[in-house]
Amino acid sequence: MLSLENIDAYYMDFQALWDVSMYVEKGEMVAIIGSNGAGKSSLLKIISGFLKPTKGKVIFNGIEIQHAEPQDRVEMGISLIPEGRRLFSDMTVLENLELGAYTKKARKEKDITLEWVFQVFPRIKERINQTARTLSGGEQQMLAIARALMSRPKVLLVDEASLGLAPIIIQTIYKTIQEINRSLQMTIIIVEQNVRLALEVVNRGYIIENGRIVGTDTADALLNSEDVKKAYLALG
Ligand SMILES: Nc1ncnc2c1ncn2[C@@H]1O[C@H](COP(=O)(O)OP(=O)(O)O)[C@@H](O)[C@H]1O
Ligand SMILES: [Mg+2]
Repeated sequence: MLSLENIDAYYMDFQALWDVSMYVEKGEMVAIIGSNGAGKSSLLKIISGFLKPTKGKVIFNGIEIQHAEPQDRVEMGISLIPEGRRLFSDMTVLENLELGAYTKKARKEKDITLEWVFQVFPRIKERINQTARTLSGGEQQMLAIARALMSRPKVLLVDEASLGLAPIIIQTIYKTIQEINRSLQMTIIIVEQNVRLALEVVNRGYIIENGRIVGTDTADALLNSEDVKKAYLALG
């Protein structure tokens, strides 16, 4: 459904991605794992259009989209939940959600989507009139996910949803993401520094180091791989 072919990408002179290839099938949930600075967020920016490759292709449902702008990719059904959530902190929860439904298709279906999002995140419904900044960290992450869902994505890209949250909240959030994947067959790519957590919720994973994909396998195989254990699961 979505694939990257031989992607190189730069920030000025600095090459952040080297010959990166990966794919995700419809309904799959895949993790990109790697340490801080490995290139995980850059890879999601390549898919969402915030970073343009100097080489390679991004193919979505058979169409090359590597030159398309981010807002056009949202129209096509690709939605990013950015690292650090990026909410409009002085706007209310409801206003943040409404901003998520800015595409043509999403605007038409806004009320139905809103009801669905409230079912997925009842805590968010209770807080619709509060400004985003008054929410707890976990609630802000839920709102960031809910806002992305408002665009009715076909592919959801989740960048470090666990960042700065307590373990119990992280579990709740990933369980919810997993339910969205299973109940709607929504394709989901998650990026995580917390490798064990990521591999416990996905079907497959890619390991990225210094801007290169160095391994890929099923989540179970990666969890049991000696290399992965040594490099990423040492503390667990
Ligand atoms: N806007 C930027 N300008 C320059 N370098 C950047 C920028 N964003 C990321 N980088 C560099 O690109 C590399 C990969 O970053 P990133 O994709 O954010 O890694 P990750 O998400 O895995 O922590 C890092 O070395 C980082 O310093
Ligand atoms: Mg990152």
